[in-house]
Amino acid sequence: MTLRPATTADDEVVAHIAALGDAHTPPHYLAYVRTAGRLLVAEDHGRVVGFGGVVPVPDAEGSTAMVTDLFVHPEARGRGVGTQLLGELLAGNPRRMTCSSSHPAALPAYVRAGMEPRGTVHYWRGPAFGGAAPAMPEPWAHDRVDLVGSWAEHGAIVRADSVVERRGATVAVVQRVVSETPEREVEQLLRGLPADVEVTLCVPDWQPLGRWLSEHGFTSFDHDLWCATPDVMPDPMLAVVNPGLW
Ligand SMILES: CC(C)(COP(=O)(O)OP(=O)(O)OC[C@H]1O[C@@H](n2cnc3c(N)ncnc32)[C@H](O)[C@@H]1OP(=O)(O)O)[C@@H](O)C(=O)NCCC(=O)NCCS
Repeated sequence: MTLRPATTADDEVVAHIAALGDAHTPPHYLAYVRTAGRLLVAEDHGRVVGFGGVVPVPDAEGSTAMVTDLFVHPEARGRGVGTQLLGELLAGNPRRMTCSSSHPAALPAYVRAGMEPRGTVHYWRGPAFGGAAPAMPEPWAHDRVDLVGSWAEHGAIVRADSVVERRGATVAVVQRVVSETPEREVEQLLRGLPADVEVTLCVPDWQPLGRWLSEHGFTSFDHDLWCATPDVMPDPMLAVVNPGLW
């Protein structure tokens, strides 16, 4: 088994392995992980059998390594490939976090790497409210400028405290909200989208925004475990996250 950096030539096989794990990795997403952090593939006799990614998330101490992806082809699972990828991705940074799926092999691998389950992130879905003019673009007011910039390049609407991506005429994804008053920000976003648009967003369970969503027509349809080393403290203003990129 050898590990090497992924290139654009690997995008197709990487997307295939991700799809077998129910994940979607469009080329612009993979390009972001490659540029901002590291994207590695595991090769067995010249065949790519898995991949993993990590990006640095800035914090008061420097940065935390956020594991963005960890996927092994079903035929190669249970033989240590995931553990090997994770070890290489995390080498050199003791501050670590990720959002773990419920796959039985995922959590043991993350726990072995020092990351404990510290909360859940809930996926919410519900209808936009409509009735107001669409949100106008504004300069982003927080960190992760490169991440927000990469969403903007692909058509997302960026406001000072939020990023919303339209996917077709009737679907929108809130990718990020950083705010002391996230309910107010999300309400404005929902008013600025037509009422027939279905909106999804991912909210950590320590944020009161989840309760607000449940009182405003949203239902939680899935969740993942947020796992981190004990020294990692989430930004209290981070109310809506992209679970893969944080
Ligand atoms: C999660 C995944 C990446 C792990 O890769 P892998 O190569 O299969 O895992 P490894 O062989 O390195 O094993 C990792 C740990 O899980 C354990 N494990 C492996 N298969 C297991 C299973 N079916 N049930 C329970 N534990 C299992 C191993 O014993 C090991 O634990 P240990 O370090 O305490 O011994 C892989 O199974 C996968 O692609 N799953 C589907 C996609 C997914 O959910 N990815 C995680 C996204 S957060």
